[in-house]
Amino acid sequence: MTGAASGLARAVALKLAALGADLCIVDLNAAALDATANDARSLGCAVEPVATDLARPENCILAVDRAIARFGRLDALCNIAGVLSFSPFTQVTAAQLHTTLAVNFSAPFFLSQAAIPHLLATNGAIVNVASAAAFIGEAYLAAYAASKAALVSLTKSLAMEYAKTSLRVSAVAPGGMETGMGAEIGGFKGDLDVGLIQRYSGLRGRVSVDDVAEMIALLASEQSGAFHGGCVHMDAGISAG
Ligand SMILES: NC(=O)c1ccc[n+]([C@@H]2O[C@H](COP(=O)([O-])OP(=O)(O)OC[C@H]3O[C@@H](n4cnc5c(N)ncnc54)[C@H](O)[C@@H]3O)[C@@H](O)[C@H]2O)c1
Repeated sequence: MTGAASGLARAVALKLAALGADLCIVDLNAAALDATANDARSLGCAVEPVATDLARPENCILAVDRAIARFGRLDALCNIAGVLSFSPFTQVTAAQLHTTLAVNFSAPFFLSQAAIPHLLATNGAIVNVASAAAFIGEAYLAAYAASKAALVSLTKSLAMEYAKTSLRVSAVAPGGMETGMGAEIGGFKGDLDVGLIQRYSGLRGRVSVDDVAEMIALLASEQSGAFHGGCVHMDAGISAG
């Protein structure tokens, strides 16, 4: 599982640990990742923390290798790590665009390449965390939205390519949640049209991190059954109209 130092992935890690799963958790933030690892261990599971930068393809392969070296098998890959730069379109830098695509799309791509041979051996699952931004235009988030739309597309293509196997591939598309990333939206200090942000802020407030974590845990489990190639919208209606 990627991104487990904070926010949504940390919640998923603790949920899966409580259910008895052993975990390989991956994040850039080593200190916060260790805190998640210790909290998960206190629930009784074995944890392999891998502190690494998933923007680099070789680190994605290394992360899967570490999981296999420790546990000898892989039942689910949860691609949850993500980055977001909130900025007017003309001010997005090449570095911001590159990092956004590398973490939000390329890392799940390379992690899936490395993980699929192992997931085929266990009738396993891939769960990709997209966003409502994959389905609607979102002002000041052009790079982020494009990266998440690409991730949904990857989900569907893998579902087709592995349709004749037992592998399950799915995605979840949350709306705004109360996490570090959620706080970043609107944090830009320049001149913005707030009405454009309200357009995708929704009518029901923030989405519960715990609800989304519950869905990811379900999709990662054998109970997800026939759910293959789809994306669960958990945005309190934002993408509906
Ligand atoms: N928070 C929201 O409002 C919201 C809405 C829709 C979708 N999402 C998606 O949910 C997922 C989780 O986000 P969150 O809200 O928990 O945010 P978060 O910032 O709390 O967590 C993201 C995690 O990804 C890690 N990460 C970032 N770059 C990395 C890299 N190069 N290598 C390894 N790890 C890296 C961070 O260290 C962090 O722990 C993301 O994919 C995000 O796009 C979030």
